[in-house]
Amino acid sequence: MRLRLLLLLAVCGAAAGAAVRTLSLRGRWRIRSGNGSLELPGDVPGCVHTALLQQNLIQDPYYRFNDLNYRWISLDNWTYSKEFKIPFDISKWQKVNLIFEGVDTVTKVLLNDVTIGETDNMFKRYSFDVTSVVRDVNSIELRFQSPVLYAAQQSKAHTRYEVPPDCPPVVQKGECHVNFIRKEQCSFGWDWGPSFPTQGIWKDVRVEAYNFCQLNYFTFSPIYDARAQEWNLEIESSFDVVSSKPVYGHVMVALPKLQTQQTQGIELQPGERVVELFVKINKNISVETWWPHGHGNQTGYNMTILFELEEGLSIEKSAKVYFRTVELIEEPIKGSPGLSFYFKINGLPIFLKGSNWIPADSFQDRVTSDLLRLLLQSAVDANMNTLRVWGGGVYEQDKFYELCDELGIMVWQDFMFACALYPAGQGFVDSVREEVAYQVRRLKSHPSIITWSGNNENEAALMMNWYGIHISDLPTYINDYVTLYVKNIREIVLTADKTRPFITSSPTNGAESVAEGWVSHNPYDKHFGDVHFYDYISDCWNWKIFPKARFVSEYGYQSWPSFSTLEKISSEEDWSYGSRFSLHRQHHADGNTEMLLQAGLHFKLPQSKDPLRSFKDTIYLTQVMQAQCVKTQTEFYRRSRSQVVQGEGHTMGALYWQLNDIWQAPSWASLEYGGKWKMLHYFARHFFAPLLPVGFENQDVFFIYGVSDLRSDCNVTLTVRLHTWSSLEPLCSRRTRRLVMKAGKATLLYEEPVPRLLKTCGKCTRQRCVVSFHLSAAGQLLSPTNYHFLSSLKEAVGLHKAHITAVISQRGDTFVFDLETSAVAPFVWLDVGSIPGRFSDNGFLMTGKTRTVLFYPWKPTSKSELERSFQVTSLTDIY
Ligand SMILES: *[C@@H]1O[C@H](CO)[C@@H](O)[C@H](O)[C@H]1NC(C)=O
Ligand SMILES: *[C@@H]1O[C@H](CO)[C@@H](O)[C@H](O)[C@H]1NC(C)=O
Ligand SMILES: *[C@@H]1O[C@H](CO)[C@@H](O)[C@H](O)[C@H]1NC(C)=O
Ligand SMILES: *[C@@H]1O[C@H](CO)[C@@H](O)[C@H](O)[C@H]1NC(C)=O
Ligand SMILES: *[C@@H]1O[C@H](CO)[C@@H](O)[C@H](O)[C@H]1NC(C)=O
Ligand SMILES: *[C@@H]1O[C@H](CO)[C@@H](O)[C@H](O)[C@H]1NC(C)=O
Repeated sequence: MRLRLLLLLAVCGAAAGAAVRTLSLRGRWRIRSGNGSLELPGDVPGCVHTALLQQNLIQDPYYRFNDLNYRWISLDNWTYSKEFKIPFDISKWQKVNLIFEGVDTVTKVLLNDVTIGETDNMFKRYSFDVTSVVRDVNSIELRFQSPVLYAAQQSKAHTRYEVPPDCPPVVQKGECHVNFIRKEQCSFGWDWGPSFPTQGIWKDVRVEAYNFCQLNYFTFSPIYDARAQEWNLEIESSFDVVSSKPVYGHVMVALPKLQTQQTQGIELQPGERVVELFVKINKNISVETWWPHGHGNQTGYNMTILFELEEGLSIEKSAKVYFRTVELIEEPIKGSPGLSFYFKINGLPIFLKGSNWIPADSFQDRVTSDLLRLLLQSAVDANMNTLRVWGGGVYEQDKFYELCDELGIMVWQDFMFACALYPAGQGFVDSVREEVAYQVRRLKSHPSIITWSGNNENEAALMMNWYGIHISDLPTYINDYVTLYVKNIREIVLTADKTRPFITSSPTNGAESVAEGWVSHNPYDKHFGDVHFYDYISDCWNWKIFPKARFVSEYGYQSWPSFSTLEKISSEEDWSYGSRFSLHRQHHADGNTEMLLQAGLHFKLPQSKDPLRSFKDTIYLTQVMQAQCVKTQTEFYRRSRSQVVQGEGHTMGALYWQLNDIWQAPSWASLEYGGKWKMLHYFARHFFAPLLPVGFENQDVFFIYGVSDLRSDCNVTLTVRLHTWSSLEPLCSRRTRRLVMKAGKATLLYEEPVPRLLKTCGKCTRQRCVVSFHLSAAGQLLSPTNYHFLSSLKEAVGLHKAHITAVISQRGDTFVFDLETSAVAPFVWLDVGSIPGRFSDNGFLMTGKTRTVLFYPWKPTSKSELERSFQVTSLTDIY
């Protein structure tokens, strides 16, 4: 009797003491340079660069030419170290692990002077068994090796053949052999970003001690059974059983709102064990599916999962479960060779509109939840529904995908390989296998991710022979390609995740690439898969230069970020378009010249003799050019969604390059570093609108198509107006009868030869007039007001200098800008410098005397602060 009571007490004691104790090793560490000449404190998560900056040992790395000045940081071998005390009795624990959620990148890890492991892959999670090494008081040390030296060594050791490219183009000022290290590929430099190959512990690190049994992870996939018309949940949990005997217990899964609960017995043998559960969702309750932004709600359901094991051990986890299906449809199209390439979500075909995501900073520890929210909210505010997480950056942090789930942003997730050939030796492949298994497990429960893609542009690099490979060597490289992306990555993904498609590359011909042995002779074929398209030279106002492809996952034009953004990282001598700084910041060969050439096709270049004025005007003009080019191109893709002309069309995706910036420099981005909207982003809000009238000309005939992303037809009226450049009153205004805009289609709404339009609308000429048009119903505006230029603006006649004034007032949390203009003004740009926030509209064509625009601040500001910073520019201001 007495004995029994004691035993019970012991069991309860174990339970009360919990089965796992963790000690976070976040916070302050000590950082030492290779020869010990520098020693400083540094935060974990973090990196050497940010630690040096925090200690004022370096200036802002983004300032002027500091990317070159601070090259030494990445060439040195740094050491991170820390002493720590275990705040519990370590001898009482059977198993102690040291867990790194991410190490950047090449290190030897020592605990109490004993080497416990090595790391060489930034994208892996590392868990080291330190049971026999850990003490009450410990010293931990991570000896980093310069990633640049490591990459060079790995490349040198690959003696049988070269794996190009060796180095990035000189204009990118980057480091070499990045394809030999599993690290953020753009950290060695890119055509829009600096080279800052960081070193550091970039994610969480902790000590975990446990007895008996421990849950390593759990992950799940909601799967729709179309035959039974029911949802199931596949849940996978991994345990480390340190008990020498099997552990028994049960698991209870509950989704209260779906009145679903399931209990099941479990038996865990000693060792690492995976438990798979299959939960049937109650069919009596109708499940609300997750929808992309613009197509429905992002409904999710709370789930709890409770493991009750022997010895009073209970482990409880909770998660949000979202239900949705994804299909990638590749099937024959009537009247067209090739195959379609589009996504169905919950059975509904959806046009993917959005952009491409790159890392939000060279130093990942500066990418806060607030910054992610700001950037992703800006994507949604611009009517985007998709972002492609590009393969040259990082698998983003959990928060990124949680926000995408909540906001309804579909994610096209690349694996982190970009613009290179890669080695496929056993060691490299083994590391990639672990990386992929871990990332798929971490990310697969997010409904936002709708497809995996093996890499960025590597099929094209291989098959279009970007690196001048000798034809006789091609089979070797194709073999490596197939080994890496097909036999390993694809195989792991398809085994671990049945809820979304996998494509081998972007761009690819999809099923056609597969049929051609995983690599197509032309991965840019317009009749298959996705394409990337860039042409800076041809006239971007001419839609005929764009590929009428099935899906366009990259396209774009560069522009300069605003002066207020540049001012923060430059000095006065830098403020001209031809300065050494302006050239240094441009990582795309001839980029600055190309922007002016493209702008010069339709606009007069800035005329001011004042150098600063001229610089600001040029920045403005590059943004005008970029916005107008991407608008023309995107509208072309959207209106091609339900059209097949000469076998081309049925375009179902437009993702321009690129959403965000990694630093303050000229680039293809629509959001500047820090989140300020460029003119392009305001334009995107219009050209991605759910209902959009698109105007264009073909052989002197003016057409307007009505593009609808809605699920049902709607009745609209189209208003077409002709304005002269010289008057604030429209020359004429026409309203059509009621027209039907077909759900999910582009419908022809209007067609008129331009000469007739000009003549019947009150005698105008192409140079003197501009067309505007919008959709409405019952007096309600249903679309943005769009416009069509009938001539280049440099040839416009009657355009006067516009004098624009603003009266600013406050209304609650927002500010009202009441504008008044003295003349018609194209590309009216409102700027409040570095005051964070965005306008309700910007970069617009002002055809009437007045207009009201709202400003939504992202941080508290005031009317007087706005008045001090406010500047307005329109096209004629730069003449
Ligand atoms: C230590 O290393 C730094 C950076 O590589 C170098 O500049 C410095 O001269 C070295 N100091 C000594 C004493 O070797
Ligand atoms: C860094 O380590 C590598 C290899 O261990 C060595 O070759 C190199 O000289 C070291 N660099 C510095 C700056 O200490
Ligand atoms: C579904 O409803 C039926 C009829 O009311 C009931 O018999 C059944 O138990 C319910 N099923 C579940 C899983 O709740
Ligand atoms: C979205 O949620 C709202 C509010 O809960 C609801 O009224 C509406 O019917 C939902 N829409 C869809 C498409 O499920
Ligand atoms: C779902 O879980 C979240 C986070 O635990 C909680 O804030 C929320 O109230 C829960 N919702 C419901 C409906 O129980
Ligand atoms: C559009 O107009 C037609 C004809 O009047 C009408 O039958 C139909 O219901 C309307 N559709 C909508 C969505 O209002």
